[in-house]
Amino acid sequence: MTYNELTDDWVTNSNSPEVKFMKKIFKLFQVITVGLLGLLCSSTTGHAEMTKAGQEAVVKAGEVMFQHRCRVCHSNDMKHPSYGPPLKNIIGRKAGSVIGFNYSDALKNSGIIWTNENLREWIKDNKSVMPGTRMRHIGVTDKTEQDFILHYLAHISK
Ligand code: HEC
Repeated sequence: MTYNELTDDWVTNSNSPEVKFMKKIFKLFQVITVGLLGLLCSSTTGHAEMTKAGQEAVVKAGEVMFQHRCRVCHSNDMKHPSYGPPLKNIIGRKAGSVIGFNYSDALKNSGIIWTNENLREWIKDNKSVMPGTRMRHIGVTDKTEQDFILHYLAHISK
């Protein structure tokens, strides 16, 4: 028996536990690779396909949501804070850093830098994210509504 014959036999016919295990690992590897590729394609094309009009529409929707859910307490004008701190340039900003605004100790000492991810958590359930914050509980639980608001916040952070 040559080496080749041996491996042919080993791969196609053997039912030994080692071979089954190797086949399973190979299958798993294939599934993961295909899955990752799929994810990569959908996330890159998802953005590439959004036209300028589409982006404007999303920002507009975000503005509407902001008016409904945030505007009573927040402006986007640094010169005119209201009951809450102004949210202009919020993305990348250190939490509790608008000079002259009277923040809670919880927010002031949180050490948070605002990002898309933690802002999503914040508008979903700010009281859980930060017990002790003075901001009334806001529960924007709908993912699409969160997306709209986050697009708007990104827009006023440019
Ligand atoms: C009822 C008033 C109120 C509403 C409504 C409200 N906020 Fe606030 N918000 C506050 C107050 C007050 C603070 C300061 C909290 C503190 O000091 O603990 C705050 C703080 C924040 C901060 C931290 C800012 C900083 O400078 O670190 C963010 C971000 C924020 N709010 C986003 C939002 C968004 C987005 C919405 C709408 C989905 C919203 N808030 C709705 C009152 C409100």
